[in-house]
Amino acid sequence: MADKYLILYFTGTGNSRYVAEKVAEKLDCKRINLNTEIKNNGTPSVDTEGVVLIAPTYAWRIPRIVQEWIKKTDFSQAKKVWFVLTCGSEIGNASLYNQRLCRSLGCAYMGTAQIIMPENYIAMFDAPDKNTARDIIKKAEPVIQRAAQAIAAGEKLPAEKDSLYYRLLSSVVNPLFYTFSVKAKAFTVDDRCIGCGKCAEKCPLKNIHLVDRKPVWGKSCTHCMACICYCPVEAVEYGQKSKGKPRYHLEGLDL
Ligand SMILES: Cc1cc2nc3c(=O)[nH]c(=O)nc-3n(C[C@H](O)[C@H](O)[C@H](O)COP(=O)(O)O)c2cc1C
Ligand code: SF4
Ligand code: SF4
Repeated sequence: MADKYLILYFTGTGNSRYVAEKVAEKLDCKRINLNTEIKNNGTPSVDTEGVVLIAPTYAWRIPRIVQEWIKKTDFSQAKKVWFVLTCGSEIGNASLYNQRLCRSLGCAYMGTAQIIMPENYIAMFDAPDKNTARDIIKKAEPVIQRAAQAIAAGEKLPAEKDSLYYRLLSSVVNPLFYTFSVKAKAFTVDDRCIGCGKCAEKCPLKNIHLVDRKPVWGKSCTHCMACICYCPVEAVEYGQKSKGKPRYHLEGLDL
């Protein structure tokens, strides 16, 4: 029998992959890793009626790169889409844009769940230390389970809190953020680099090439934080903003 659901997930530093695994356990369904699809220009067939999109929140909406991928993928067989957004603190008014996306796909919008996970945006904020991150994930577990339960029952996810402030963040600040902040030019590498290539391997946009065993960043960047957070020797910095901050990736927590 064909699966009822398909999970599509994108991740920079592992949080959304972790949530995708938990939701997949409940739904007993296939997962597609959008990092690989985006990297390889892949548009696999979405052949289930139910689709669950799991991704980090970038500037109070789903990542633009994910939205662009969805728009060029065939969703004609999908009838219902649920959204599960991981975030450091809040998803703002992301649900409005998810509803619009569903309308453009001709699918029913089944709601957006907010899952608060450890902050990973060290180009702007601080990531938590490992113990704090583990506590945050512990608190997220029942929220993940509730969302998975509702999806498994075919129900709509309850609406998150709405406010004028959230609307401004998702509508006005989101495009400004992409225009002025999402750039790779502040990334640098120092002498600690051992030339392992992990940063290039992790980049979902093939934006990093090794030259003389050192990374060089191109112009195509979505600020996912994978290159800076997965470097095993913390040789990558984002200008002065990342200096002295703990790096974060979920696998480093040994859960
Ligand atoms: C570019 C960027 C923008 C972000 N914007 C938001 C945001 O608007 N609201 C929020 O609460 N967290 C924000 N975060 C934090 C992430 O959404 C959060 O840490 C997420 O769980 C990371 O998931 P991942 O490990 O799957 O990449 C942002 C992180 C990045 C890298
Ligand atoms: S991951 Fe770190 S050590 Fe490895 S190549 Fe990139 S910068 Fe160098
Ligand atoms: S360059 Fe770094 S931050 Fe930008 S998309 Fe690639 S891995 Fe993510």
